[in-house]
This record gives sequence, C-alpha cells and structure tokens, in this order.
Amino acid sequence: MCGIFGYVGVRERDVALMTYRALRDLEYRGYDSWGIAAMTPDGVFVRKSVGKISDTNEQELKGISGKLAIGHSRWATHGGVSEVNSHPHFNRDRTIAVIHNGIVENHNELRAFLYAKLGLVHADLFVSETDTEVIPHLIDYFLRLGNTFESAFVETGKMLEGRYAVVVMKRGEPYLLAMRDGSPLVVGEGEDQYYLASDVPAFLDHTRTVCYPGDREYLKVSAEGIMMRSLDDGAKVEPKWSEILWDKASATKEGHPHYMLKEILEQPLSLDKAIRQEDGKLLEAAALMKEAEHCFFIGCGTAAKMAKLGELYAASVGGRQTTAFVGSEFKPYEQFLDRKSVLFAVSQSGETADVLEALSVGKKRGAKIVSLLNVVGSSMDRMSDKKLFINTGPEIAVASTKAATAQAAVLILLAHALAKDGKAKLAEGKHLLRRAVKEIKAWLTPDLSYEIRRVAERLKDTNDLYIIGRGLNAPIAHEAAIKIQEVSYIHAEGFPGGELKHGPIALIQKGTPVIALIANDETRRDMESNTMELKSRGAYIIGIAPTHSPLFDEWIPVPDLGIASTIANLIPIQLLAYHLAVLRGNDPDKPRNLAKSVTVK
Ligand code: F6R
Repeated sequence: MCGIFGYVGVRERDVALMTYRALRDLEYRGYDSWGIAAMTPDGVFVRKSVGKISDTNEQELKGISGKLAIGHSRWATHGGVSEVNSHPHFNRDRTIAVIHNGIVENHNELRAFLYAKLGLVHADLFVSETDTEVIPHLIDYFLRLGNTFESAFVETGKMLEGRYAVVVMKRGEPYLLAMRDGSPLVVGEGEDQYYLASDVPAFLDHTRTVCYPGDREYLKVSAEGIMMRSLDDGAKVEPKWSEILWDKASATKEGHPHYMLKEILEQPLSLDKAIRQEDGKLLEAAALMKEAEHCFFIGCGTAAKMAKLGELYAASVGGRQTTAFVGSEFKPYEQFLDRKSVLFAVSQSGETADVLEALSVGKKRGAKIVSLLNVVGSSMDRMSDKKLFINTGPEIAVASTKAATAQAAVLILLAHALAKDGKAKLAEGKHLLRRAVKEIKAWLTPDLSYEIRRVAERLKDTNDLYIIGRGLNAPIAHEAAIKIQEVSYIHAEGFPGGELKHGPIALIQKGTPVIALIANDETRRDMESNTMELKSRGAYIIGIAPTHSPLFDEWIPVPDLGIASTIANLIPIQLLAYHLAVLRGNDPDKPRNLAKSVTVK
C-alpha cells in the first residue's frame, strides 16, 4: 500500500523526472494518486495529481534540477482520492514535506494534542483528510519549541502509533530524515548519493547496494552518508549493506503486454527456483513444527489459500495436524499461543498487516515464528526464528500468481520434511517436484494461453462463475475465485464439491458456468458425481483435469502431477482470469481498489 521514494545526492540532477520514474516502478503498490516534492535552487517544486502516474507524460517532469526529492504513489486509506489528500503533506508555512506509507492509528489524539497546544481549530491547521498530515504539523510544533529538525522528527516519531514508513524533507536542510515501524523501507547506496524506497525496483537502475532499517529505527541521509539510530533510545545502529542479486529485467515486462501474463508464463522458471530449497532449512523448520504442541499456518488472501493447502499437505503427506487461519480472523486464538506453539506465516511481501499482528502477539507470548516469504529483508523476515524463501524474484502484478505456485511447491516440500523419516521423504518430494516442473515447462506454452483465451471469450459476459474442487483442490477452488474476482470483476465463488448440495447448487441455472477441478486421486469419483449434478441442472462445465470426461463442455487438459496437481490446476485459472480481465477492458496489473502489499488492517 503506497510507494515512497526519496533521493539525496551531491550533484544537481533532474530530480523530479528521476522521482517520477521511481514512482512508476512502485506503482503496483498504490495507484490512485501521486505526488512529488523536489528541493530546487528556486525553492520547493511540488506536483500532485489524481490517477496513475504512468498516465502522465514524463516530459512534464523534465528539467527540475535539484539534490533532494521525495515522491509518493498513494492507495487511499484516510480521506478520498483527491489532489489535496495525495502526498507530500506540509506544515503551515510549507517548509516541511512528508510522505508516508502505513496508518497513524492515533491521528485523532494527535490532532487533539495539536489543537490544545496551539489553540487552533481543525480548519486553521489541516488542509487534507489524511492521517499523515499530523506528522508535518507535529514536527513544526517541536521545531517551534526549539528542537533541531532531527530532534523534532524524533519527538514526532515517538508519538506515532501504528505502522509506518515516513520520509521527510525540510527547506534549507541538505538531508532527508526517515523512520519506519512495520512498513517497508529500503535504502540504496550509490556514489555520493542515496535512495530511500518502499521497494528495490524504485532505484535498481542506480544501485544494487541496499540496507533494510529495522522497526523503530530512524535515518538521517545526506549525500555524504547515512546515520541510523534507534527511535527509542537514540543508540547508533550500524547499517548492514547487501547486494541485490536479481536484475531489473525480472522487474520489467520483457515484451509481455502485462506483468501478470509475464509472471504466469515464467512459472516453470520460478518453480524451478522455489524447489531448490536447502534440505537443512526445511528440516529445521519441520523440526520446530514437530516439537510444537500447536502449529498454526497463517496468511491473507491468496496466501491464506496456500496456507490452507499447507495444512492439507502437512496432514496428508507429513502426518501432522496443523490449523490454517486467515490473518484477520486469528484474534480469538491468540490466547492459545505459548512457547509450545509455532506460527507459520505464508506471505509474498512479508508485510501484510494482519499476519504481522498475529506474529507480534505470538512473539510476545513466546511462540516460534516460521515464515515462507518472497521479499528478503521484509518485516516478517526480521521477526522470524526460521525462514524459507520462495526465491521467485519480484512479483509486480497485484494478483499473486508465480508466488502462489511457488508457495504451494515449498509447502509440499515442507510436508515431506514433516513426515516420519523426513530426510528420505524430502528426497522423494524433491524428485516429485522436479518432475512436475519439467512437465509444467513442456505444457505451459503460448498455445495454452491462446486456448484459454478462447474459453475466456465465451465467458467474458457472464455475471457469475463458480469453481468446485475437493481435497487438495478445495483451496484451489477458493483461490480461483479470488483470482477471477480481482482482475475480471466477475462475481466468482469457489466451493468444496461436497458443499454444493448444502446450498450453492440453488444458484445453478441453464448455462451457468462452473469450473470443475478434477484430479486423478481419491476425490475423482465424488467430483465426477458433483459435476454430473451440476450438468443435469444445466451448468456449462469447464473441466480442468488430466483426463477428458463427457461431462465437460470445455476441457482444459492439465498434466497429472500426483499431489502436485494443485500447482498445475492453478495455472489455467490464472490465465483465464488474466484473459477475462483483458477482454473486459480491465488493467490486470492494477485492479481497481486493490494494492499489492496490504500494510494496513
Ligand atoms: C491476490 C493477492 C492477495 C495477497 C494477500 C497477501 O492475488 O495477491 O490476496 O495474496 O494480500 O499478500 P502477501 O502474500 O504479500 O502477504
């Protein structure tokens, strides 16, 4: 949610243009409005606009020279989508400019504090409806009490509650101040210049040397260097620099019309990377889970569906009982967390607020935290006792595709490691997945995409679409619904096949499209019966299955990968969602009302 960028350098550069380009690379994080502030020899340049930044011609930002700039791509939380609510936000004399990702949860109390201290009413102080605007006014207040810019910033930081990453620029000061707690912030180090951003692609054209500040740390960043300290006690923190190993190409479309399509089609490669897990790490994570009395998988959205799949694999392959939860629904179960519990987070970004909240409570109660992540250096990475990475490179499209299949693959490996003779079983799991990746590679060709586009053409005007699956394919049916909803905006729902007769079958009329996920496993017969029941009520059946059935009106053949068939089944659904979105005139990379990383509750 929201992308932030900051730049400070020793030489004058075309800073507004540079910031524009960085925000364009961060647009997947938030795209309802944007804003830039740059320090120039003639004063502060400000440009704000509603809409996607990529809809603005970059030439409009050319020729603004300066050594400092900040920029923000917004996904509205507090206050509607408008120029006045877009960042940066300013103090009254517009000398302090602030960009912020996250939520200041106590913004009402902070407003009341400012009114009381300054003897002012709302209209005298605030121009926007945002929570963010308290920050420049608080810094201004502490400056007027005689603080330096840095100490006013720190005093303000101490008052903020919630999750945030904040970058601040002040007229006349040759440096940026930044702080974070819970929301992502990464620093890039160039030659005599530094970059701050929510995510690495924003500055990957300029540097690969990065450092990830920790929670409740603040930074003073000038062209000469960076100083990092604890927000709470001022203790100095040594920055730990590392190199980004993936290149910009993995964060570009590489000739595809959309990131979503590129990310779907690169799954043979991303899966191949995901299954190259070190045995030791999987066995260590599994050992923690085996020792635990309670083990909870936790995730949100697509990651929650993969967490559920993790639970099913842990039971069916690993012989372990675990429970999967949606992050936002975990609260009543926090009471059961103790030293004998393991919380296993599944998250692409490692920044999802509802999961982070459960992990923080778990940590306080002594539970062990294990995470399956994509983003290195993310908040979940930092708070985990054991972590596994899917290693798929950046996922830019808002809809999760290659991350989801990679999560499923690693969860299959984990389930093997959980089994009695974990080491031997793991070798078996790796063999199974290597074969699966090979078959997926041979099958996932542009022809498959064309074939699914043809199916999408038939379905593009439907109002409703249902998906059924049983066993391991029940969470896949739920995930299919998310994928179709979020990019095509068609009403889609997934059900376990066995649930149909308990209600949903009433929705079926002549021609209602239903996708049936039929695996060659013990659920096959029951799935065929369920499909027959739908067919006899007039449903138009799209079968995703390794073998053809006369029940199907459309058949999308998938390779039979045994327990890894879930991965193959996800791919045609992703392609169908993508083509439906394009045929209905939607932007699949930036679906309405959504953002890539949900850092607010
Ligand atoms: C759907 C989608 C979301 C995310 C969810 C969790 O395609 O991408 O449902 O899966 O917001 O995000 P992460 O995995 O970053 O925790």
